[in-house]
This record gives sequence, C-alpha cells and structure tokens, in this order.
Amino acid sequence: MRTRVLAVDAEHPAEEVLQEAGAALRRGELVAFPTETVYGLGANAFDPRAVRAVFAAKERPWNDPLIVHLADMSDLPPLVARLPDAVHALAAFWPGPLTVVLEKSARVPEEVTAGLPTVAVRFPAHPVARGLIEAAGVPVAAPSANRLSRPSPTCAQDVLEDLDGRIPRVIDGGRTVYGVESTVVDLSGERPVLLRPGAISAEDVSSHLPDLVTSPPAPNGEAFASPGLLTRHYSPRARLALFVGGTAAERAGAMKQAVARWIAAGTRVGVMLPSEQLLAFDGMAISRATLGRSGVVEEAARRLFGAMRALDRAGVEVIAASGYDLEGLGRTLQDRLLRAAEGRVIAVGR
Ligand code: TXA
Ligand code: MG
Repeated sequence: MRTRVLAVDAEHPAEEVLQEAGAALRRGELVAFPTETVYGLGANAFDPRAVRAVFAAKERPWNDPLIVHLADMSDLPPLVARLPDAVHALAAFWPGPLTVVLEKSARVPEEVTAGLPTVAVRFPAHPVARGLIEAAGVPVAAPSANRLSRPSPTCAQDVLEDLDGRIPRVIDGGRTVYGVESTVVDLSGERPVLLRPGAISAEDVSSHLPDLVTSPPAPNGEAFASPGLLTRHYSPRARLALFVGGTAAERAGAMKQAVARWIAAGTRVGVMLPSEQLLAFDGMAISRATLGRSGVVEEAARRLFGAMRALDRAGVEVIAASGYDLEGLGRTLQDRLLRAAEGRVIAVGR
C-alpha cells in the first residue's frame, strides 16, 4: 500500500480534500489527520471492520478502547445511555482537548470500546479534524496515529515514520498546537475521575468540576481505570533517564555528571531540556533536543514527543531529561516522562 499525503492549510483546509477523505472514512477506509493535540488515525466508528483495521495498523492491543470524535454536540446523545450533569459543566471546554468517558448506548460497536460498557468522546477544535468529521457524516473513532508504544505524532512526518505503507492516507495540516493528548475524565461513576492528564490542566477541569478525583501519576500503572494507560507508552527507542527532585540547578548538575560518565563508557547520549539549560552541556559530545524556553511548559509540551523522536533518529542509546512539578501542564509532562522512563527515575538532592 502506498500512503498518500494530502497537504492542507491548517486554518482553511481545502474543501475538496476534506470531502474526498470524509467519503473514504465513511466507506470504511482509514485517514490519519491532525487534531489540536496530536495526529489521530481515524475510522468510521459505526464500521467494526474499519475499527479493527485501526488496531491492526497500529499493532494496538484489542483491549485498549478508542476515543470517538464528534463534530457537534447534537451528535452525542445517540452514543450514550445518559448525559450526567457533569457533561454540561465540561462543555465549556468544547470544542477542545477534553475527552469524557460516559456510559455507552447500543449504537457504539464493542470494537470501539474494547467491550467496555463506556465510551470515550471528544469534540476536537482543529479546523481539519472538525471539517473531516463533518464531511464524513459519521462519528470518527481515532487513537493517536503512532505505532504501539511510540511517542504520539505531532506532525504528518511522524505519522509516516510509524505508518507509511500501512495506511492509505494522511492529511498533512502541519504541527499540532498542544503536542500532548487530550485530558481524559471519567464521568461514568459516582465521582468524576481524571484518567489521563492532558492538554487541559487538572486545575482547569477542577474549576468546573470541584469534586474531580485526581491522583498523582504512577509510573507503573497501579490504579488506572483506563486500559490504555497500563501498556508501555510514549516511549522513545532509547532508554530515558528522568532526573527528579532537588532544584533545577541540582538536577542539571546531576545530569551533567551522569552524562559525562555515560560518554566515558562509550554510550551515545541525548539530552532533552529547555534551550537555556542545554548550554550547560556545551562542548560535550551529545545529541541535543530543545524543549523551548525555560519555564514555558506549553512549549515543552508542544516539543516533547518530537524531541524523543529526533533523538531516536540521531541514534542515541540514552536520553537524559528533567522532571516537572505536578502543577498545570507540568503534571501532564511528568506523566508522559514517567511512562517513557519506565522506572528509570534518578532522585536528586536528597
Ligand atoms: O488527544 C487525543 O486524545 C488523541 C487525539 C487523536 O484525539 N487521541 C488519543 O487516543 O490520544 P489514544 O487512543 O492514543 O488514547 C485514548 C486513551 C487511552 O488511554 C484509552 O485507554 C482511553 O483513552 N480510553 C478510551 N476509551 C475509554 C473508556 N471507555 N474508558 C476508559 N478509558 C478509555
Ligand atoms: Mg495513544
């Protein structure tokens, strides 16, 4: 299979591209497309065969359910058994990077929800995603468009890196805006639960849902109600070593020492930090990936997955990265970094 790349303007995508790709989706073909978070790999959510093709292309385990993407609030009621009040409280974030888990209706095939009695839904804000779903005329089930356990794609090139030759088409709408996935909130139980920290901060969700249950991110997935969070995720091929604790200066010092040791042992090393902090590694034989301006978490989020991929392409064996405080988007960054590190956490300053 050859993968066609359909380039569009992110703000004003050409109608004929959306119509063509939308018709392909409707008849059961897969389309990778940009959203404001990361690129998704879409299928007609009402077509079980198309949904199974998504799992096959990604090599995704069958027990990990997909998010259903909708263009309009009026498309939601047919998909769910009931609409709790909390949905209305969160509608302030729509369209946007917030996903809710609700009790599903019989209309949603079990292939989409991996047999769960609930369905995850979101209304993307990206003009290409919205235009595509509207053109398809059906809800679009879409996971992130990466191969199993690779970092989520934030540009069409990332999608091709993982799925070239495995899917018929990708719409290229440039870089995504947030760079990390949507925030997932489970509204199917007694109290709302933050299942996945994402592009909208837990604090922002809490301000609309004061009884939101959040628990600190756990690297080994002990208490996750979200099946996808149990599997290895967001990982570069290189081993990621995450330096946590202490002050930023203490972390930088510890990183520098460790990096010098690894280089001396003949290991190819990559360092992923804000530009200013990378200066401390001047003159060292490492590959570098910047996370933007120091202290600007939005920039780090936008660059995180691309940085992991770039360091993989540079052929490094170890990536050194610095942890974040669990505040705002920092919680999301720390969650993704902990998963990528798979337990290789180095505590500093204690
Ligand atoms: O930003 C995003 O959410 C992107 C874009 C493409 O929309 N999508 C995305 O999909 O990140 P995916 O499949 O990579 O992650 C979806 C997460 C998984 O952790 C999955 O287990 C969880 O949502 N999920 C889906 N349906 C669920 C359900 N019914 N109950 C609990 N968790 C669910
Ligand atoms: Mg994913």
